[in-house]
Amino acid sequence: MSSAHEVVEKKVSWLGVWIAAVISIGGLVEILPLYLSNEVTTPAPGVKPYGALALEGRDIYVREGCYNCHSQMIRPLRAETERYGHYSVAGESVYDHPFQFGSKRTGPDLARVGGRYSDEWHRAHLLNPRDVVPESNMPSYVWLADAPIDAAGTPDKMRALRKIGVPYTDEDIVGAEDAVRGKTDLDALVAYLQGLGTASKNW
Ligand code: HEC
Repeated sequence: MSSAHEVVEKKVSWLGVWIAAVISIGGLVEILPLYLSNEVTTPAPGVKPYGALALEGRDIYVREGCYNCHSQMIRPLRAETERYGHYSVAGESVYDHPFQFGSKRTGPDLARVGGRYSDEWHRAHLLNPRDVVPESNMPSYVWLADAPIDAAGTPDKMRALRKIGVPYTDEDIVGAEDAVRGKTDLDALVAYLQGLGTASKNW
């Protein structure tokens, strides 16, 4: 007499049905809690939506591929928290669409870099990293200083983010153009970097 297991193994259509059932249950168990758990959907204390200039800076971070060398995800391990600060929590990323966890660390993790250096340090570093860190192999991003932000596009970006749950007010959106007008890509990127992880300082 053959066991039920054997029957399923020999009938490819049944095998397919069972594989689909098992994967669906496994998927639901992993994914559903992410939509329901407060820890994941509520902003961590002090975490606010990006201001207009930092939001533009974030887009430049993505455009330039900074995530190819930098993670923004501090693991809860002693070596990491001693070096970088409080480990990353899910509630920090609620306004990040998409998040910038990254998985490659050619350079240091940037999740807590806000406030670690001055704006001037960042400007010098982005234009030519070797001016401030002689042994650095990070590329120079010279073009950022001459590229003006397209201020007309900023309110639309904020409106789009509001549609998916980022609580921008009408005032934020009306003021966005003025907040970025006349600024360069470099100004925006520095504003973004200086905000990274600042909320975690009070945890
Ligand atoms: C090819 C890999 C690479 C890329 C791409 C890269 N970096 Fe870096 N980055 C590094 C390395 C290596 C260091 C460490 C040496 C140094 O400070 O320059 C570093 C350091 C930094 C630091 C200082 C971090 C600290 O805690 O000291 C910041 C800030 C930074 N990078 C931002 C950026 C931004 C923003 C971009 C994209 C515009 C970028 N990096 C792209 C490799 C990279």
